[in-house]
Amino acid sequence: MVRLNDRQRQRLERFRVRYFPMLDPNIFRILSKKYAFRKLINYLIVEFQAGRRDAHAFGKPYWLTIDPTNFCQLRCPFCPTGMDRNVRTKAMMRFPEFKKILDDLGPTLLHIDFMNWGEPLLNKEVYDMIAYAKKFDIDTNMSTNLNSFSPDEAQKLVASGLDCLVLSIDGLTQETYGKYRVRGDYAKVLEHLKMIVEARRKAGGFKPYIVWQFLVFKHNEHEIEQVKEFGKSCGVDVVGITPAYMPFKPGIRENWIPTKPEYRMYDPATFPDSPPWQWESSAPSAEQDPSASVPAPSPADASPPETAPTAAPPPDIPWERILKAVRKFKKRLTASGDDAVPDVKVDVYKDSDQRKVCLWPWAGISVNPNGSVSPCCSVEEEEYDFGFYDKQSFRRLWNNPRYKEARRHIRRYVDGQIDVKARSAHACERCFSIGKSNFTFPAWWRFTQFDWWWGFSDAPPPASPDKQNTEKR
Ligand SMILES: C[S@@+](CC[C@H](N)C(=O)[O-])C[C@H]1O[C@@H](n2cnc3c(N)ncnc32)[C@H](O)[C@@H]1O
Ligand code: SF4
Repeated sequence: MVRLNDRQRQRLERFRVRYFPMLDPNIFRILSKKYAFRKLINYLIVEFQAGRRDAHAFGKPYWLTIDPTNFCQLRCPFCPTGMDRNVRTKAMMRFPEFKKILDDLGPTLLHIDFMNWGEPLLNKEVYDMIAYAKKFDIDTNMSTNLNSFSPDEAQKLVASGLDCLVLSIDGLTQETYGKYRVRGDYAKVLEHLKMIVEARRKAGGFKPYIVWQFLVFKHNEHEIEQVKEFGKSCGVDVVGITPAYMPFKPGIRENWIPTKPEYRMYDPATFPDSPPWQWESSAPSAEQDPSASVPAPSPADASPPETAPTAAPPPDIPWERILKAVRKFKKRLTASGDDAVPDVKVDVYKDSDQRKVCLWPWAGISVNPNGSVSPCCSVEEEEYDFGFYDKQSFRRLWNNPRYKEARRHIRRYVDGQIDVKARSAHACERCFSIGKSNFTFPAWWRFTQFDWWWGFSDAPPPASPDKQNTEKR
C-alpha cells in the first residue's frame, strides 16, 4: 500500500477538492493509512451491511466515541452534565481500559472522538490515550471548554498528535460567554488558547487543527461577524458558527432561539414548550436546573402540546417507579419495550419527515468512562445502554439482542413500517433523532472539509442541508 506523510496527504486532498469535488475521499484516505488493508475491508463490509440493514454485523465499528470522563467543572444549562442530572455513573476512564479497547478495535478504526458527556481535559491520561490512538493511525478529535489547562499540558496536547481540537467558546465577552458556559472564565480560556497556538508554533507542525466552535443563541448572535475575525487573529484555523441544541421547556423559544433562521436548529413555530413525552428518569428538579433564568411557565405554556401521548403524571402517584418496574418486566419478555403507548411525531428538526438510515449500530460505538456501551453518543440514561465493554467479548456485545433489535428497528423505520415509540425500553426505538445523528463527513475531515462540516463559515456550503442538523455537539 502507498504510505503518505501528512504533507503529501494535504496536497492530495487539495488536488481532490479542486478537481474531483464530488469524489468520496474515503477510499484514498484509508489507503494511505497504517493497517490500510484491514481498515478498508472492514469499512466496505460495514457500509455494505448498513446499506442492506442486516441484523447480524460481521464488520467492526470504524467510528469510536470515547468519553475520558463525565465530570465537568462548568454548568452549561442545556447539557445533561451541566444540568447535573447525574443519570450516568460518574467515572474517569483509565488508560489500561482504553488500551484494551484500542487493542481490540484500533486496527479497523478510522476516527475517535475523545469526548461525550464531560470535560475531557479533566482526565490527565487523555494525552496518552490520543498518542496511543495515533499508533493505529486513527483520526482523532476532541472538544473542550478549555478552562483547566497549563503550558505543560499544551505541549503534551501538541505532542500527542491530536488531529482536531474543538474549542467551545460561545461569546466574545465574559457576559455573553458566561450566559451559556456557566462558571466558565473567558479570559482564562483565551490565555489557554494562546498556549496551544504557541506550543503548536514551537513544534513546527499544523496539528491540532483548531476550531473555535461558537454555538449561536439569541444573546450572542450579534457577535457572529466579529468572532470570525477575532478567532482568526487568535490563531485558530476555522471559526465554526454552529446551531445549538435546546431542550423543550417554557421560555426557550423566546429567550434562546436565535432570531436569524440560518443559525437555528429548530423552527420556533413547531418548537414545543414542554417535552412531547415524559423523560422518566431525566427531569431535573427546579433547584438543580441552572437554566432557571428562563421565565416561569405561564398557565398556557404549561399545557402539553397536542402531540403529547399522555399528560404529566400527578405528583402523588409514584409513576416513575411503576413505569420502571413495568419496563423492567417488559424488557425481560421482549427487547423492544412498550407498544401500548401511542407513537409520537416530533416536528422539530428541519428534515424530520425524512427517514434516513442511522449508521451507528453498524459503524459506530460509544464507550462511557465506566466501560458501559451506548449505541451512539446521544443516549443519556445508562439503563438504555447495550452492555459493558469489559464484561462481554466485543463480538458477543456487538451482536447481542439489543444491537440486533436496533438494526431491525432501523430497517423497519426506514421502510416506513414503524414510528418512534416514545416509551420503548430500547434506546433506538425511542430516539427522535433517528437517522439524523450520523457521522458521514467528520470522519473524513481535513482542511476544507472541516469548513463544510462546521456549516456556516465562509467556506462551501454542506453537501446536504441535513448536515447542519446532525450530532448533539
Ligand atoms: C457535552 S460537550 C463535552 C466536551 C466539552 N466539555 C465541551 O463543552 O466542549 C460535547 C460538545 O457539545 C457541545 N454542546 C454543548 N451544549 C450544546 C448545545 N446546546 N447544542 C449543541 N452542542 C452543544 C459542546 O460545545 C461540545 O462541543
Ligand atoms: S457542554 Fe461541556 S463544558 Fe458545558 S457542562 Fe457540558 S460537558 Fe461541561
